[in-house]
Amino acid sequence: MRLKRLELTNFRNYANLELSFDHSLTIFTGENAQGKTNILEAIFLLSLAKSHRTNHDQEMIRWSNTEAMIKGEVETKHYTFPLELQLNKKGKIAKFNHLEQAKLSHFIGKLNVILFAPEDLQLIKGSPALRRRFLDVELGQSHPVYLNELLDYNRILKQRNTYLKQFGQQSNFDAIYFEVLTEQLIEKAVNIIKYRLNFVEQLVKLAQPVHHRLSNQSDQLQINYKSSSSRLDYTQLDTLTDQLMQLFKHSQKREKDLGNTLYGPHRDDLEFILNDKSAQLYGSQGQQRTIILSLKLAEIDLMYQLTSEYPILLLDDVLSELDDQRQHILMSYIESKVQTFLTTASISGLKLAELKQAKIYHVKKGTISEP
Ligand SMILES: Nc1ncnc2c1ncn2[C@@H]1O[C@H](COP(=O)(O)OP(=O)(O)O)[C@@H](O)[C@H]1O
Ligand SMILES: [Mg+2]
Repeated sequence: MRLKRLELTNFRNYANLELSFDHSLTIFTGENAQGKTNILEAIFLLSLAKSHRTNHDQEMIRWSNTEAMIKGEVETKHYTFPLELQLNKKGKIAKFNHLEQAKLSHFIGKLNVILFAPEDLQLIKGSPALRRRFLDVELGQSHPVYLNELLDYNRILKQRNTYLKQFGQQSNFDAIYFEVLTEQLIEKAVNIIKYRLNFVEQLVKLAQPVHHRLSNQSDQLQINYKSSSSRLDYTQLDTLTDQLMQLFKHSQKREKDLGNTLYGPHRDDLEFILNDKSAQLYGSQGQQRTIILSLKLAEIDLMYQLTSEYPILLLDDVLSELDDQRQHILMSYIESKVQTFLTTASISGLKLAELKQAKIYHVKKGTISEP
């Protein structure tokens, strides 16, 4: 798919911006803090109705304004459609084909993006929350149902935790109510875990050959979706509900003491293994980068398998972090089939033959010019 047009009104430091995209590769260059990432953030928002760098939508409304508007026009193999996201003081309004979508999940994933940002370089060694987020972002776009399951899960989890905190130690603890909450939680947990396991399995298959090539045939990559307890065996999916029931029963006393739900997909993790050793523990910085790049490239293929459309690739300041060979492999991988938006402080850091065919914009204080 392609993003044909982008229009921003009072979004971040853009009072008004209108761009049309005819090129496969669009580059935004300029000094720090001028508004390069803001543009990628806006495109990301059209895909997920949520920013990749803040949970507070209001932050994105241009200072001393009351609403921000992002409009885009997306072209797929079969049709062209407009997307609109308005952020205001009360919340957000998402429109697909000019029609307001009552559920955000009906808006999310109409435009598919893969974002590769500096934060992603923490994916291997950073906190497990980053790795779960990685799964959630990708799954959410390709399977909107997954997002609903996740929202339900988080809502029940919050209720359950609140209840544990309030009543865990008290005599009026309502065991039956608590059991109902636990059963509801487990039902959602099982669905989420199955989605994630399936996704990781597909992703690994695609990432392994890319990784092999990127590491000059030397490293063998394995990725595992890891459960939050050694008492859970994710290879035995038909008994997963029972396993979780048992685990929750077993840990109820501790949960009451701690006032927290101790197990479930909100505590699961991804594990990266290079040549049978943990990449989290032993991977060099170069090896970590290679894994992350392989993942991103595999995601592109997976998205294509799932939707028959290539997603849009957003590369925020990361290309210059890769050496020439990896830059070259990345660009040859996406060729012209993947529309790419790239930000960089200086073009001279990019050793790309593709630069010749790129559209280059210069960004300065929320205005854009062609050099
Ligand atoms: N809500 C907002 N209103 C106006 N300006 C904003 C808002 N949020 C961020 N900015 C400005 O946007 C700029 C940062 O933009 P960003 O795209 O992250 O920069 P970079 O070019 O380094 O990627 C900063 O100058 C910041 O002050
Ligand atoms: Mg930036």
